[in-house]
Amino acid sequence: VGKTNLVRVALPLQVQEYLEPFHLSVEKLREVSARLRKDLVRGLGKHSHHKAPVKMLPTFVRATPDGTEKGDFLALDLGGTNFRVLHVRVVEEEQKVLKMDSQICAIPKEMMLGPGVQLFDHIAACLNDFLVSQNLKGQTLPLGFTFSFPCEQKEIDKSILIRWTKGFNCSGVEGEDVVKLLKEAIHRRGDYDIGSVAMVNDTVGTMMSCGYRDQSCEIGMIIGTGTNACYMEEIKNVRRVEGEDGRMCINTEWGGFGDDGCLKDIRTEFDVVVDETSINPGIHNFEKMISGMYLGEIVRLLLVRLTENKLLFEGRTSEALLTPDAFETKFMSEIEERDGGLENTQNILTELGLKWDSVDSRIVRLVCNAVSSRSARLCGAALATLANRIRVNRRLDHLKTTVGVDGTVYKKHPNFSEELRATVRLLAPDCDITFLVSEDGSGKGAAMVTAVAQRLAHQTRLLEESDGEVDDEEEED
Ligand code: GLC
Repeated sequence: VGKTNLVRVALPLQVQEYLEPFHLSVEKLREVSARLRKDLVRGLGKHSHHKAPVKMLPTFVRATPDGTEKGDFLALDLGGTNFRVLHVRVVEEEQKVLKMDSQICAIPKEMMLGPGVQLFDHIAACLNDFLVSQNLKGQTLPLGFTFSFPCEQKEIDKSILIRWTKGFNCSGVEGEDVVKLLKEAIHRRGDYDIGSVAMVNDTVGTMMSCGYRDQSCEIGMIIGTGTNACYMEEIKNVRRVEGEDGRMCINTEWGGFGDDGCLKDIRTEFDVVVDETSINPGIHNFEKMISGMYLGEIVRLLLVRLTENKLLFEGRTSEALLTPDAFETKFMSEIEERDGGLENTQNILTELGLKWDSVDSRIVRLVCNAVSSRSARLCGAALATLANRIRVNRRLDHLKTTVGVDGTVYKKHPNFSEELRATVRLLAPDCDITFLVSEDGSGKGAAMVTAVAQRLAHQTRLLEESDGEVDDEEEED
């Protein structure tokens, strides 16, 4: 940080003026965290939920793995850049979730914006191809479906899409039960069938897949194309679900934080443009300041503005720089790399058709750094809010917990995770958090959720049986 500051001091004052709004003070982050704390409560409330920007969706996942789950499962994963089908095996003896095989199916851009029926037919066709290639056709394996969009879940196998986020906008799906749409598509084909289905958000999948390794994993977080987190909440606080005892995993959908305007004071003019030119203006404001789908575009807009004001590239833009989304988020990771970052910067600028000098490349690095560190710190503030909530819920002075994390921004960016952790330490000093990076979390996690649901159903059946009349046969057992 010290080094960055030194360079910043030497920059033209006008450049600093543009970057200053991205440097959020600890005080500001505390305020943001306090606002989110209130919004979590609004989202959980029976009556306040309706208008709450942070949706706090019940997931019907009532338990994390206990290590006794086992079996073979299929998993579908839709919601990032690709659609994937997986065959997963949960091995009890080794406490392992194994990916037996998987297949990626591209989803063409037109399909992301076309009719929902077409999307689900495509999913059913990909699943069919996979079953054929794995010699699994004819078996009806239970299926975990990671569907990473906000869904109002009625049960583990009934899940209604509230709205599309990220790049998707297929017609005829919002307000519908996604499990039903999937099953209908499979039945339209009529050449195979699937067993019971469990619907899972990617955050939940991530938490559950890490939960098999570390049973104190009670938060799942994604910072990739989108951003979101889930955590284990006391059921008695989830006012929209009956029950007093135990816990349920809540999908916060924190991407929607700020959709009621409560983050106005920290949004910059660039955030406003990113939102207004997106396919869902007004929706998921917090996500648009944080996640991979938007960070590169914020940087691009800043670079354009600095160039127009003659603070970069001698005032000359390029066609690429003026093209929306041409500055990819992954460039930021390359540019901010500790060693070799400056060279990467220069290569990228050349690729973008820009004429740079050494001051330009230093400024570009600082622009990327300002945008990525704001993202990491905002995420850190949000995570601290969840950890603090869990601690207070359990009346603990000190909480030790694990967060399962996935997403390219977190995994690939050179200083993102460090900055996020530093922020959490500042804002949640009484929480000791271990970060577990999940490998293939949303795929394996979906299988895990299905496995835990089966274990719970089995336990309930056993309980019911032992409560009922004992017949002769059972007595002998
Ligand atoms: C978006 C989705 C959310 C998902 C997140 C990360 O915010 O609305 O459901 O978890 O992206 O993929």
